Amino acid sequence: MDMKNIAVLFGGSSTEYDVSLQSAASVIDHLNPSIYHIILIGITREGTWLRYNGNTAEIRNDRWHTHASCIPAFISPSKNAGGIIELTGTEYRTTPVDVVFPVLHGKNGEDGTVQGLLELSGIPFVGCGTLSSAICMDKGIASQLVRAAGVDTAPSVTVFEGDDLDSAVNEAEKLGFPMYIKPSRSGSSFGITKAYNKLELTHGVQAAFLHDQKVIIEQNIAGFEVGCAVLGHSEPITAEVDEIELTGEFFDYEEKYSLRSSKIHLPARIDAKTAAKVKETARLIYKTLGCSGLARVDMFLTEDGRIVFNEINTMPGFTAASRYPNMMRYSDITYPLLMDRLIELAAAKELHR
Ligand SMILES: Nc1ncnc2c1ncn2[C@@H]1O[C@H](COP(=O)(O)OP(=O)(O)O)[C@@H](O)[C@H]1O
Ligand SMILES: [Mg+2]
Repeated sequence: MDMKNIAVLFGGSSTEYDVSLQSAASVIDHLNPSIYHIILIGITREGTWLRYNGNTAEIRNDRWHTHASCIPAFISPSKNAGGIIELTGTEYRTTPVDVVFPVLHGKNGEDGTVQGLLELSGIPFVGCGTLSSAICMDKGIASQLVRAAGVDTAPSVTVFEGDDLDSAVNEAEKLGFPMYIKPSRSGSSFGITKAYNKLELTHGVQAAFLHDQKVIIEQNIAGFEVGCAVLGHSEPITAEVDEIELTGEFFDYEEKYSLRSSKIHLPARIDAKTAAKVKETARLIYKTLGCSGLARVDMFLTEDGRIVFNEINTMPGFTAASRYPNMMRYSDITYPLLMDRLIELAAAKELHR
């Protein structure tokens, strides 16, 4: 069998840089070295692209960029380049790449920017395309489209930087407390707060503006959050549904990565009929938002049995303990098999876009 050159992109100029390091290290560790030749490209927090030739331990502890092997490298938007271009002094060298796996979370990686570059380059890549990645990154726009497709979403108010804050807060008050305030484009709960009164609401909006010029204020959805891992293109498969059990206020950054007071149940503690409905809704959302490759669709299940869309992640967490690979494993797609599937799907993507 021919070896495939797989370029893994990690890090990124995003608040989720650290999360990407952990996800990417797991991805790299689970790529079968007898069939894949792995090329590593790290992107620093500042946005510098470097080819790296070291181990995953140095990625996990964020020492990779100090490694002597690091040399400036990038993917050319030019279609004839077909790979990674490395610079050594005034010389450059091209390494051909079959598939790029951008294990990047959040801004400048999961939001359509890198996907745009990869589409221009003509190199197949894992995950959603430019438009879909951009739409899914913007919680406000994703919710509008999902609502138009007939799925419930949380009632919300959108505020843009420069809008009159007092009138936005007065309008949002009608949603009723408590409410969630989110930067429209963020992840890992960065910039998200829960407000119980007008003062907290005002402060929450100001805090969210530190992350984005567009802020969404959402009604609190009483119930619990479930996730559904989706894999494929136009006829995607769904894995077993999981459930987040919270004892604290909400699934914030600390909780997501420590699970100190919350718990993930896999499978979710729901009956088969509800699970089937959740999967069907996840597939509808995936198709509505033009996803391809993979995504994790997060929804709330309310006390009165409704499914309410929360958000979608086009590059969900990928550590060995992360929800997406766990859900797939539960459905008999082990982590190494998932890697093979994603790479095959990337190569077949042109047919489905
Ligand atoms: N409208 C809402 N009602 C109830 N809980 C919410 C709502 N929006 C967000 N949350 C809570 O906040 C967490 C983070 O919000 P989310 O929109 O998923 O952002 P992120 O992209 O950072 O994960 C969710 O996992 C959930 O616990
Ligand atoms: Mg979330």
